Amino acid sequence: LPPPVFSAYDYITPVIGHRGACGEAPENTQASIELAAHQGAQWVEVDVTISADGIAVIHHDHDLDRCTSGSGILNLHRLSELKKLDAGSWFSEAFSQQRILTLTELFTLANQLDLNLNLEVKPVIGRESETVWAISRALQEVPYEHPLLLSSFSLHALRACASHLPHITRAINVEAIPRNWSERIEEAGCQGLHFQAEFANESVIREIKAAGYHLLSYTVNNPDTAEALLSYGVDGIFTDYPARMVRALSRW
Ligand code: G3P
Ligand code: CA
Repeated sequence: LPPPVFSAYDYITPVIGHRGACGEAPENTQASIELAAHQGAQWVEVDVTISADGIAVIHHDHDLDRCTSGSGILNLHRLSELKKLDAGSWFSEAFSQQRILTLTELFTLANQLDLNLNLEVKPVIGRESETVWAISRALQEVPYEHPLLLSSFSLHALRACASHLPHITRAINVEAIPRNWSERIEEAGCQGLHFQAEFANESVIREIKAAGYHLLSYTVNNPDTAEALLSYGVDGIFTDYPARMVRALSRW
């Protein structure tokens, strides 16, 4: 598959808010995303999955237990049930009004905040295409006006992205960078690789960049680690504390 004509990576910045600003507000909620934007992040990464009735929603875990007042598997609940849950009190009572966001609500919010988005697709196994269709439907409902980057650990989801949303920039998520990184990026039809910072290796990073791919690294909350990664050529880092990183990385 040819790469998208427009590359979201042309607009990438060193700091990407991880699940918004999840060190200081409940992850993946409106409060967290607004906080990241107010702290100076121009990009945020959030996780996208689908409800039982096929609506794209923003949530990290497979189940509802850790981050909401609900319990059980998210994908078995309809949107109307998900919307009743409190998605903020687990973090602090101050956030008790937070609800699980739909992707259309997120696009509206990001348009208002002038925010660029990395949607990490966390598909339901066996329903990868449906998850990507839900993203595509949300984009039709609320035209999103900023650079958009899709990423996933799931090869099935990335292939569905390449066939249903070929014009949108894509990245494969991995923990350690695999030895056969070039093959893995190409088979997934991606332009970038997002890897776990603990597995950083300067010479491999330089090779991947020299081959023309883009690299982002998660999750980096220590400014010295971020500086080192950027000096190796990594394009940006996902952080739970955007304010701290925006301050520390101003020279990048
Ligand atoms: O997309 C980068 C990073 O968010 C992947 O790990 O578990 O935080 O979704 P996780
Ligand atoms: Ca994620």
